[in-house]
Amino acid sequence: MSADGFTPPPGARPDWTIDQDWAAYTPTEHQVWMTLYERQSRLLPGRACDAFLHGLDALDLHRGGIPDFARINEELDRLTGWSVVAVPGLVPDEVFFEHLANRRFPAGQFIRKPEQLDYLQEPDIFHDVFGHVPMLTDPTFADYMQAYGAGGLKAMDRGQLHNLARLYWYTVEFGLLETPDGLRIYGAGIVSSHAESIFALDDPSPNRLGFDLERVMRTPYRIDDFQQVYFVVPSLQALLDATLQDFGALYERLARSGDIPIAAVAPGDQVFTRGTQAYAAR
Ligand code: PHE
Ligand code: FE
Repeated sequence: MSADGFTPPPGARPDWTIDQDWAAYTPTEHQVWMTLYERQSRLLPGRACDAFLHGLDALDLHRGGIPDFARINEELDRLTGWSVVAVPGLVPDEVFFEHLANRRFPAGQFIRKPEQLDYLQEPDIFHDVFGHVPMLTDPTFADYMQAYGAGGLKAMDRGQLHNLARLYWYTVEFGLLETPDGLRIYGAGIVSSHAESIFALDDPSPNRLGFDLERVMRTPYRIDDFQQVYFVVPSLQALLDATLQDFGALYERLARSGDIPIAAVAPGDQVFTRGTQAYAAR
């Protein structure tokens, strides 16, 4: 979500945005998008939540390869007042939060190489646009993301980003939603990954626990492999509601309470699945 440097790279504006330069994508790059799009859109019905699937439909992201932000933004603006802006890659935290707080989602302009279909370290346009943007068509989630941006700026001033980043990770990137039909995915890190879209719902290895704000903020995460724990929200509205309070008192409690080990089931946890952790132990 962020980079360490503080000066925009050559050619980028002071807010780190660049032109998407849609006309410059090569046929190979468009083909990578199409391949990934086909694979995920086939897999996700019955796995991703309705808000995501509706968003994917509304934005029509498979028309002619890599989507043109100018076109997505017409629809997105109409639906929730959000827009997508192009950035060269990871941006500094403050820049990232400032964009979110103004309902702009910074998306990587580049796309992975054909030999990196399954994994790459830095978020590319497929992760950012296919993974994140459909959820931004949902009014509740759209408000949550804006609030998160404003909260990030506040947390930076208070020196509390460490805990807040875990909230982003376990909701925006790896969140699950409870529905009458079973658990569904809303996290961008999951829906943009073929293997994790299966693992997150079907594998016996990870814990699946009820979302609790303080609990989530006490839980470390891994960036290099499938998650060992997923947190389940009862609704997107419940997620938004849980974050409306000022986090000042919460940050003070967190400074005193320790982390909870990543694979633990703690007293008070609502357990959807107690995982075997076999995958992590392999
Ligand atoms: N309410 C939080 C605060 O006071 C801000 C926030 C909102 C953080 C939504 C994350 C998500 O810091
Ligand atoms: Fe992401």
